[in-house]
Amino acid sequence: MEIIYEIKNLKKHFPVKKNKLFEEQKYLKALDGVTLEIRKGETLGLVGESGSGKSTLGKCITGISDITEGSVKYKGADISDKKTIKTMQSEIQAIFQDPYSSLNPTLMVFDIIAEPLRTRFNYDNKKIRSMVEDLLNKVGLSKEIMFKKPGQFSGGQRQRISIARAISTNPEFILCDEPISALDVSIQAQIVNLLEDLQKELGLTYLFIAHDLAMVEHISHRIGVLYLGHLVEIGDSDEIYKNPCHPYTKELLGSVLKPEVNKDRKALVSTNREIPSPIDLPKGCVFQSRCPYRTEKCTLEQPALLEVSKGHKSACIYREDFYKSNK
Ligand SMILES: Nc1ncnc2c1ncn2[C@@H]1O[C@H](COP(=O)(O)OP(=O)(O)OP(=O)(O)O)[C@@H](O)[C@H]1O
Ligand SMILES: [Mg+2]
Repeated sequence: MEIIYEIKNLKKHFPVKKNKLFEEQKYLKALDGVTLEIRKGETLGLVGESGSGKSTLGKCITGISDITEGSVKYKGADISDKKTIKTMQSEIQAIFQDPYSSLNPTLMVFDIIAEPLRTRFNYDNKKIRSMVEDLLNKVGLSKEIMFKKPGQFSGGQRQRISIARAISTNPEFILCDEPISALDVSIQAQIVNLLEDLQKELGLTYLFIAHDLAMVEHISHRIGVLYLGHLVEIGDSDEIYKNPCHPYTKELLGSVLKPEVNKDRKALVSTNREIPSPIDLPKGCVFQSRCPYRTEKCTLEQPALLEVSKGHKSACIYREDFYKSNK
């Protein structure tokens, strides 16, 4: 299977502004050692609550942000190489949550979609016009809207316009950073269906970011769960839903503790529901301060992301117990 992205031990630390001159320099650890791969033709869903590092990951792998440590390879080549940067510029596109801000309000739809075509190809106006019509048709919009401005459209229509722009140069990979989060529930499914159809037709690969699992369920082949800059679980979508092996994933799924999982263990009490500050991460497992299953052992070190079954990994020392108890 062809790998589009190979991400190893990716860290992104932001220096925190110091109040006093001699104060120790602190860092906000937005990503703290993420390892994963994105495979050609798949949709990898990435979920986690606000501040978990989802957008930072998207920015780091597309070259929008530089990285602090670790390595990111795009089709086998390091993304910091000049040649790779050039390849990525022509093969990678992004769509975001808010099509209001990503579409220039002063331009007509035609120019918004034509712009990347004009930059990339040396086509005459007639050819560009027919390509724009074709793209509008692909995303389910009529060509009559070409000479209107983005402000005249609904959120869902605007997202269709940004998708038309994103696919105009025939990309390989599209970063989808919460593309449906701002839309009405009824419209969300339409955009998801459109993205799925385009994926099949054009052989696209997606990293699809969302806050909660419900939003990625339909579209993702695999799902990764981020918590405070750590990938805590990853696996095929079915496995993540039916057999979650990290307490945070269980929490996102709204499931309750099965008592037998915990019978031999003395769980530490007092679990705080607040997400800790990414500047002062808890000692030990990153989730321990919130975890209903935590024990003394969990306060010692961050567990490695290890396999529980083929392709299904969890960063919890009790992953095997969960795996058995879910069965
Ligand atoms: N440029 C920056 N400078 C300093 N801190 C940043 C910067 N960008 C992001 N952060 C911090 O990094 C952490 C991760 O942010 P990120 O935007 O990746 O989260 P997210 O999972 O996308 O959240 P959301 O769901 O709200 O979009 C947050 O604590 C955020 O405040
Ligand atoms: Mg974000």
